[in-house]
Amino acid sequence: MARVAAITSEKGGVGKSTLAVHLAGAAHAQGHNVLLVDEDGRVGSSLRWAQRAGALPFPVVAADDVKPKKLAAFDLVLIDTEGRPRRKDLRQLAERADLILVPSGVSPLEVDATRELLDFLTEEGAARQSRVILTRVPPVGHAAEVLREDLREGGVTVCNTLVRSYLAYQRAAELGVLARDVRDPRALAAWADIETLSRELW
Ligand SMILES: Nc1ncnc2c1ncn2[C@@H]1O[C@H](COP(=O)(O)OP(=O)(O)OP(=O)(O)O)[C@@H](O)[C@H]1O
Ligand SMILES: [Mg+2]
Repeated sequence: MARVAAITSEKGGVGKSTLAVHLAGAAHAQGHNVLLVDEDGRVGSSLRWAQRAGALPFPVVAADDVKPKKLAAFDLVLIDTEGRPRRKDLRQLAERADLILVPSGVSPLEVDATRELLDFLTEEGAARQSRVILTRVPPVGHAAEVLREDLREGGVTVCNTLVRSYLAYQRAAELGVLARDVRDPRALAAWADIETLSRELW
């Protein structure tokens, strides 16, 4: 059975699709047989990303095209979701996912939304499989480290790896490739964060 990891958030635009595409890329690079499922379908989604250049090294499919039989070929299935899912959908997601990854920026509003989502997941008995990933972290300063400890003290599981903010991710989305393949002096620094996070997760 494939391990299923869903990427979701209470707020839109926090970096779900960016993480979904890159975590799938890193898992593939580490030898996993990975499938990325897009449950969003709007402009910024991972399926559109994949279609832009047709150059991602792993398959990306729309949720409607997922055939249970075909899933058997994969050992890791990542799900990129729409921002701010309905509680009902979230409950279903919590039931079928082995891991729920919640990306969050470090701004107070995003952190509030993240805490709210984690509270809900805890009420649903899904705290154990939930992980916050701090992303779009400013490359200077220690706000994210402080926040990570603060969240942990509140009982939230936060990934150790901080995904820093780099323009290479935006270029990657525009081009339909991974950040490591973008011509940018910081592209490999961006990719290194993702590889570290991937090793932390699987
Ligand atoms: N680590 C990062 N560094 C810099 N920019 C980033 C990073 N992660 C995401 N972004 C940028 O933030 C914006 C939102 O990212 P993304 O589309 O991945 O978010 P999302 O949560 O999937 O949004 P939606 O809720 O609309 O699906 C994009 O412009 C993306 O390039
Ligand atoms: Mg998205």
